[in-house]
Amino acid sequence: MTESFTVKKNEQIPEDVHRITDEKIIAYIDEILREPKFFVGKGNIAEVYKLDSNTSICFKLIDEGKNGTIALALRGENPYFNSISVEANFLTDLQNVDSKVRVPRPLYTVEREVERSGQETAIVSVLAMELLPAVSIRDVLDEMAELPDKFDRSSFFLSLHKFFEKMHEKGIYHRDVHAGNIMIGTKGGEPYVIDFGTAVYSNAEDAYQGSRRGATTRFRNDFNGLEIVEREVSQFLTKLNK
Ligand SMILES: Nc1ncnc2c1ncn2[C@@H]1O[C@H](COP(=O)(O)OP(=O)(O)OP(=O)(O)O)[C@@H](O)[C@H]1O
Ligand SMILES: [Mg+2]
Repeated sequence: MTESFTVKKNEQIPEDVHRITDEKIIAYIDEILREPKFFVGKGNIAEVYKLDSNTSICFKLIDEGKNGTIALALRGENPYFNSISVEANFLTDLQNVDSKVRVPRPLYTVEREVERSGQETAIVSVLAMELLPAVSIRDVLDEMAELPDKFDRSSFFLSLHKFFEKMHEKGIYHRDVHAGNIMIGTKGGEPYVIDFGTAVYSNAEDAYQGSRRGATTRFRNDFNGLEIVEREVSQFLTKLNK
């Protein structure tokens, strides 16, 4: 097995997050790929892990060997999925948009080329980012995580609504708003938005439309997605109070 790495350090790593050398980050990623012990979460595309129980950094891994759609995306053949460095750029651009809603701070992106015997070279992409002190709404709905005490539905969703308005003013559209991509702060109940894997820079008119090989795809409108999540949360709260 031969490997090569491309490590890209985010130029805007905040002072309060300790800096790690490239060698260290590669060693961390090796460790996680060899035997991931601390699972954080998973979606359709990626798996997220942390290093140990008290770290403040997590790693989003996309393994093209495990996901054919992603393989196309990484080769630039599928315009609907962002490469990990494009995803990191969105996170950078959204750091100071709002005082009430945050996105994770990106730290590093690593693309690791892995030659597996008898197969084509596969790419494993890694985004090292701030581990949010939060639980996803999906995990709360599925009773995999506790609903934080300080959660207040109406202020939570009002803040999110304003955040998406500001984001759209910057020309950024998320396009994958669902319960797995919104998180609630464990201590303060504050909202977080994650996963800019299908986000675009666009104008309002064609933000939710994509066309590829003559076929048109429609993405979910960010506000519709938000409404659906709020409805799911309302139903969950009603059930809790019974
Ligand atoms: N920075 C973070 N801090 C804490 N938890 C996170 C963070 N990023 C992701 N997670 C957890 O990992 C899960 C999967 O991450 P993410 O949504 O980025 O993956 P995905 O495969 O792109 O998802 P999708 O199915 O929406 O495409 C999230 O639902 C969340 O529970
Ligand atoms: Mg997701």
